[in-house]
Amino acid sequence: MSLWATKSVTALRAEAEATGERSLKRALGAMNLTMLGIGAIIGAGIFVLTGLAAALHAGPAVVLSFAVAAIACGLSGLCYAEMASTVPVAGSAYTYSYATMGEFIAWIIGWDLVLEYAMGAATVGVGWSGYLVSLLDVFGLHLPAAIASAPLRWCSSADVTNSVASCVAEGWNRTGSFFNLPAAFIVLVATWILVVGIRESAKVNNLIVVLKIAVVVLFIIFGLQYVNPENWKPFVPPNTGAFGDFGWSGVFRGAGLIFFAYIGFDAVSTAAQEAKNPQRDMPIGILGSLVVCTILYVLVALTLTGLVHYTELNVAHPVAYAVEQINQLSWLRPFITLGAVLGLGSVVLVMLLGQSRVFYSMSRDGLIGPWAGKVHPRYRTPYLSTIYVGIIVAFISATFPIQILGELVNIGTLLAFALVCIGVWILRRTRPDLDRPFRTPLVPLVPILGVLACLGLMATLPADTWLRLAVWLLIGFVIYFAYGRKHSHLQREREAQSSTRKPV
Ligand code: ALA
Repeated sequence: MSLWATKSVTALRAEAEATGERSLKRALGAMNLTMLGIGAIIGAGIFVLTGLAAALHAGPAVVLSFAVAAIACGLSGLCYAEMASTVPVAGSAYTYSYATMGEFIAWIIGWDLVLEYAMGAATVGVGWSGYLVSLLDVFGLHLPAAIASAPLRWCSSADVTNSVASCVAEGWNRTGSFFNLPAAFIVLVATWILVVGIRESAKVNNLIVVLKIAVVVLFIIFGLQYVNPENWKPFVPPNTGAFGDFGWSGVFRGAGLIFFAYIGFDAVSTAAQEAKNPQRDMPIGILGSLVVCTILYVLVALTLTGLVHYTELNVAHPVAYAVEQINQLSWLRPFITLGAVLGLGSVVLVMLLGQSRVFYSMSRDGLIGPWAGKVHPRYRTPYLSTIYVGIIVAFISATFPIQILGELVNIGTLLAFALVCIGVWILRRTRPDLDRPFRTPLVPLVPILGVLACLGLMATLPADTWLRLAVWLLIGFVIYFAYGRKHSHLQREREAQSSTRKPV
């Protein structure tokens, strides 16, 4: 049995065309897909991490960090668009690598995508909880931290030495909180919406995305009028001596962090099987949402660092904080907080959608249990995988802190992006004949630059994060060799073919 057996693209296309009980409903057009992308993209990254990246790493040059991260995402986005239009099957990077680099790499990607989608949903759930607490505060309701923050905290030896709160020993420490209840709540609500149906999910998402964009645009339009250009000086604060603490290395470290803000455009490709016209609409959805978000992010970062000095931005709600500091803008605060609550909620929704679709595809290939491929007879959604994933993600979101989750999400996603770039190049060589409704320009240059950009951003992440990625992949290998390899439909087909060829 070969670890490198590939699924034929023709078979994948046939699978995508198939209709029947086990198929998903084709209900999404180009507009819905772009909205789905924006719904997944604008979230905790812009509302929470921008302030952190500016205050700790890049200063006003966080604007440049956004540009650097956008380049990496743009290069990968071009590759995603070609893959999604050529192999328009649910499952995204997982499916593409099955067709190009073989089953083992596909398994690694599928397993790795759990970090992006499931952990991503958990991360944003934690961010949502923070903004909900702030929104309730506006109305005079106070949620105690004991039920609205993580019960665990990861402490480095420096944290212990500096007596950072709850840091008694290096490693995991208890914070005194019981459970992050709002984080679990939003994940379970999103799960319920997803079970009820893709059309309904898209409708809820569209409404929220419009509100979310409106709030971001309001912040830019009104905020820009009160910018103090002195706050942008120096635009690239001098490096303190340590890598990543301001200066140009800070711009790149900032890019590694706020890369999180762009994650999600690829979630569009996971819904390929639910698109009405995937060949045309997938590239529009992926690249369109990326372009819109890049423009908004650069403007938000400029406004934010222009309104208040970057050293003040290390807070949980930097955008709301900034408007509060300017008397004429404080009326915006409730809108921004509400926009963030709804906006982060829609990100959780799309991330969970992506995760259940990846599991759906892996299950159809036999690599994980048949439960994940079960489609609800009435709603036509992969309900079991949605429910199981939702429960586990709710638990994780309620238990772990945002930094640890976020770092894992970034490294896992960057690895998946790099492999998709490589996949485009391989498929061009192995199947040059394939009809490609969207072609990545300048292959192999764009895929190679895409891989380098992703690896470069991965290199800015801390060693602990690399270690967690390695542990996660090791667990994946164990599951693959214990279950996936034995139940793989592709391997069984190949065995059956070779046994019929043997002389009796
Ligand atoms: N891009 C998404 C966010 O920023 C994951 O929340």
